[in-house]
Parts: sequence; C-alpha cells; structure tokens
Amino acid sequence: MKHFLSVTDVIDIPALVAKARAYKNDPFRDKSLGSGKRIGCLFLNPSLRTRLSTQVAAQNLGLEAIVFNVGAEGWALEFGDGAIMNGTTVEHVKDAAPILGLYFDILAIRTFPSLKDREEDYSERYISQFVKYAGIPVISLESATLHPLQSLADLVTITETFAEIRKPKVVLSWAPHVKPLPQCVANSFAEWMCAWGGADFVITHPEGYALNERFTRGATITHNQDAALTDADFVYVKNWSSYEQYGQLLCDDQSWMLTLGKLKATRNARVMHCLPVRRNVELSDEVLDSAHSLVTQEAGNRVWAAQAVISELLQSRQP
Ligand code: CP
Repeated sequence: MKHFLSVTDVIDIPALVAKARAYKNDPFRDKSLGSGKRIGCLFLNPSLRTRLSTQVAAQNLGLEAIVFNVGAEGWALEFGDGAIMNGTTVEHVKDAAPILGLYFDILAIRTFPSLKDREEDYSERYISQFVKYAGIPVISLESATLHPLQSLADLVTITETFAEIRKPKVVLSWAPHVKPLPQCVANSFAEWMCAWGGADFVITHPEGYALNERFTRGATITHNQDAALTDADFVYVKNWSSYEQYGQLLCDDQSWMLTLGKLKATRNARVMHCLPVRRNVELSDEVLDSAHSLVTQEAGNRVWAAQAVISELLQSRQP
C-alpha cells in the first residue's frame, strides 16, 4: 500500500481488518515498528476521534505523532495551479508539501469539502496535491469525499460483532440534521461495503439524496426506510447533504430519525454512527443509550484501524 485515501488503495480488505483486530487483541505487538519515525497530522478542520485515535495508534507502534492545526494556526494554503497569490493565501502547497515530506515519514491530512462546488470537491484537489508534492505516504483523515479510516473501523466493528455464518444485512440510513453535511462518511461506508462484499447492503434515503453511484455500485437503494430496516442486522445512521442539488439540505422530515419503534422490524439490529451525533435530531436518546448502540465500540476501533494502516504503510516502505 502506497497511500491510504480510499478502499481502492487496499490490496486485501479482510487481511487489513484482521490486522486491525490483531492490534486490538495485542496493541503493542509491533511496538518498535515505527521507532525513529514520525507521522505529521495536518488538520484543516476540527476533529476529536480521528486526531486522538491516530496519535494513540502511532504511539502504539513507537512512532512519534506531531499534530498541526494548519487550518487555524498555519499559513493560508494555495492549491491553484498558476495562481497569482495576491489575495488571502500565503503559501502554495507546492512549496509546503515537499518540506513536510522532509520532516515526516508519513503525512496524514484532514480537509473537508466546501459543499459549494461539486466538481472542485470531487476532484479531491487538496489531498491529491499533498500526494503529488510531499513524496511520502499520505493517509486521509477525511477528505472532501471520503473517510476511509472511519470505514475501516466500521468494518472491524461489524465483523467482530456478527458471529453468524450467513451474511449480515447492513443498512445505511439517512438521518435528519440541522445543517448540510458532507457526503464523505456515507460515500466511504458505501464504497467499503460494496468492495468488501460480505454483507447484503441496503441504502435508504429521501428523494434527492442519492449518493454518487461511483460509491454505491452493488448496493440496493430505496426511499422506503421501513422496508430497508426489515430484518436488518446493522443500521448505520448518517446525515449527508444532497449530491444532486449539491450541498443542499432538502429534507427536514424528522420521521427519518431512528427510534426504538423502528428497530422492531429489524433482527435486533445494532446501531452505528461515526460520531459526533446530534442527539434527538439524527438519533434518539433511547437508541443511543440502549444496548442496540455500537457507537462507543465503533469509535474505540478507530485506534486499531489507524494502527493497521500506519503499520501497512511502514511495512510497505521497509527494504
Ligand atoms: N468520526 C470522526 O471522524 O470523528 P472526528 O470528526 O471527531 O474525528
């Protein structure tokens, strides 16, 4: 693996999941792997879980993690080719990224989409420019369109929770929110579920919220949430803004919020959410505080997902 930007960078999904689960069983099994090496974690946007789990994961491998809130504390970066920098941007990524490539062995970056310009966001210009100019492996800590570390942790959570021989039914269910959110988590979860192929995967959302079909090939898609939830083993709850009417909030129908009543149609489904969650908007207290909820376990698994990915990248670079 050269970079970790999406599931398409992963050579063997079950092997990566197994590696994450092995680290969960024995966090310090490779405690010297990253000795003398550094990971730079650049945040252009806020984070709790991604930031801390990546630091813990790095530390478990003996790697030093240096976090830089570049969005709040760094020079304003320019990403435009040929830009005449007479505005607010101060430093071009062409100049900054190679320097980071000298300081670090791995670079990890969080950068959210604008939700204003779909073509620009879906070009993944920010993270791809770091890949182009840094010259070292890059990990996405959530980009304009994807959140692969979250999805790997989600897959770890599903595989360790489901003990039956048959395939689980996994439902990605759109939820209401007070403001438009990126499609990253939903895109990424769908992409990983489809690439993994180990589940009967269903996506349910109101009209106008279809995801880019690049990420959903192989999924069953329905506007009927009740039908989708029937016999579900896992319900992954997430809001996203419209891809079609890009970045718009089209639906405020609170009946899309998952409740214990809705879960009665499932096979006693376990409920997932990447967090942070708006309680009683996206997900009801009664669900989050019930035995259905996997959200804490899921967030805990962010450490093992990050550790598996960092480990893969370090091992790929060993002579
Ligand atoms: N799920 C997730 O990425 O959480 P943070 O935004 O807190 O990192």
